[in-house]
Order: sequence, then C-alpha cells, then structure tokens
Amino acid sequence: MDAEPGLRLVEPTEDDGPTLLAAVAASRTLHHPWVRPPDDIESYVAWLARSRRDDHASYLVWRASDLVGVVALNQIVRGPRHSAQLGFYGFVPHTGHGWMRQALTRLCDLAMGEHGLDQLEAHVQPANDRSLRLLASLGFVHRGPSPHTLHLGGRLRVHEQWLLTARDWLAPPRRGSGGQPPVDRIGPGARQQLVGPGEGAGAEEAP
Ligand SMILES: CC(C)(COP(=O)(O)OP(=O)(O)OC[C@H]1O[C@@H](n2cnc3c(N)ncnc32)[C@H](O)[C@@H]1OP(=O)(O)O)[C@@H](O)C(=O)NCCC(=O)NCCS
Repeated sequence: MDAEPGLRLVEPTEDDGPTLLAAVAASRTLHHPWVRPPDDIESYVAWLARSRRDDHASYLVWRASDLVGVVALNQIVRGPRHSAQLGFYGFVPHTGHGWMRQALTRLCDLAMGEHGLDQLEAHVQPANDRSLRLLASLGFVHRGPSPHTLHLGGRLRVHEQWLLTARDWLAPPRRGSGGQPPVDRIGPGARQQLVGPGEGAGAEEAP
C-alpha cells in the first residue's frame, strides 16, 4: 500500500466546507445510493456541528493536499458496551488505491484506543459490494439483518449489520493492519502542517 506521502485523519473545520462540497459534487455517482454526505453549505454546517458533539467523531482523510474521503464514528454510546456506528465514503478520483482501507484501519485503532470503544457497528446495504469487501478485509463479521430502520434519501433501505469487536481488533495477529505503517492523526490546530489545504453507514445523517 502506498504510504507516501502518508494519510492524515484530521478533524473538520469551517474552512474545509468548500473543498468537501466540491469533492461530494464530483463523487455523486460513487455515493448514490449508499450514502448522503452534506451537499450544500447548510448541511455542511449541520454536519460539522454534529461532528463536534461528544457522541460523534468525524475525520477528513487527506493525502497531502488531496481530500481522499471521510471516516466517522457516529452515535457513540457509552452504555454497558461502548459502541459506535461506522461511517465512511471516498472521493473520486482517489478511490481504488487502498487509501480508504488504510484510513479505516487508523479509525479502528482510534475507536478501540483513544475513544475506548468495545465494538464498532456498520450498517450496509447488501448490494454495496465495495463496502462489504472493505469491511470484511478489516475483520468485520456479518451479524445478519440490521435491527435499525434506516432511511436514506427519503427511502427506507434494507441494511445488514456488520460488527468488529475490540477483542478481535486488538488480538494478535490483528486483521486489517496488513503490516502497514500507521496513519497520522492531527487536530484542527495542526492543519497548517498539511501541504495544501462527511450519510453513511446507511443512516439519514451523514458520517
Ligand atoms: C467503499 C469505498 C469507501 C471504497 O473506497 P476505495 O477507495 O475503493 O477503498 P480502497 O481503495 O481503500 O479499497 C480497497 C480497494 O482498492 C484496491 N486496491 C488497489 N490498490 C490497493 C492497495 N495498494 N492496497 C489495498 N487495496 C488496494 C483493492 O483491491 C480494493 O478493491 P475492491 O474494491 O475491488 O475490493 C468507496 O467505494 C465509496 O465511497 N463508496 C460509496 C460510499 C459507501 O458505500 N460508504 C459505506 C456506506 S455503509
């Protein structure tokens, strides 16, 4: 997998709106009917506000100055079992290079590490082959029909539930790492270090 110049997972800011909206506009065919990312400034502002809540964590995936995609932990629940719903989508022309897989690997590290989660859920439409292959390669296990009613684009869509537990993720040999080098994660304060310059998992809200 290409590790140069490396990927960065960066928390989004107001300044990222135009870049993200342009990437979403260019990726409509890739995203439909699987996810509904923010596609105008109002939905971006709402998505940003939600990303900053305690029960969400969204990251833009940058490769140098290219916005490669978005990965997110949605609806973080800190009950008897700490869990979150995974959201992710890539942007053209940056798909098919293994970078989203690398970003999701880092997100799983963050989820099971920094965020202290016990499990990650993904709710995926059964015909979403690329996402299913990606999740399976990371070690997610198919659990059957999703217990949630998931609306997307105003329509009810059938989803399947996939699960990754911290125990499986952290157990050696760890699936999904593929021996790849770690991906950096920096906060908004460090954005200037970059050379240049997030609905998914099925739910109506954007990842
Ligand atoms: C799902 C999605 C994020 C995958 O993006 P991607 O950029 O193709 O992801 P990656 O490149 O990291 O995935 C690995 C793919 O790249 C290929 N690849 C190419 N070079 C690679 C490399 N060096 N290392 C790993 N994989 C590589 C793999 O073979 C794999 O191909 P496959 O899709 O035929 O199995 C993208 O298709 C997308 O945005 N879909 C719409 C949104 C969506 O469905 N989100 C999930 C909702 S539940």
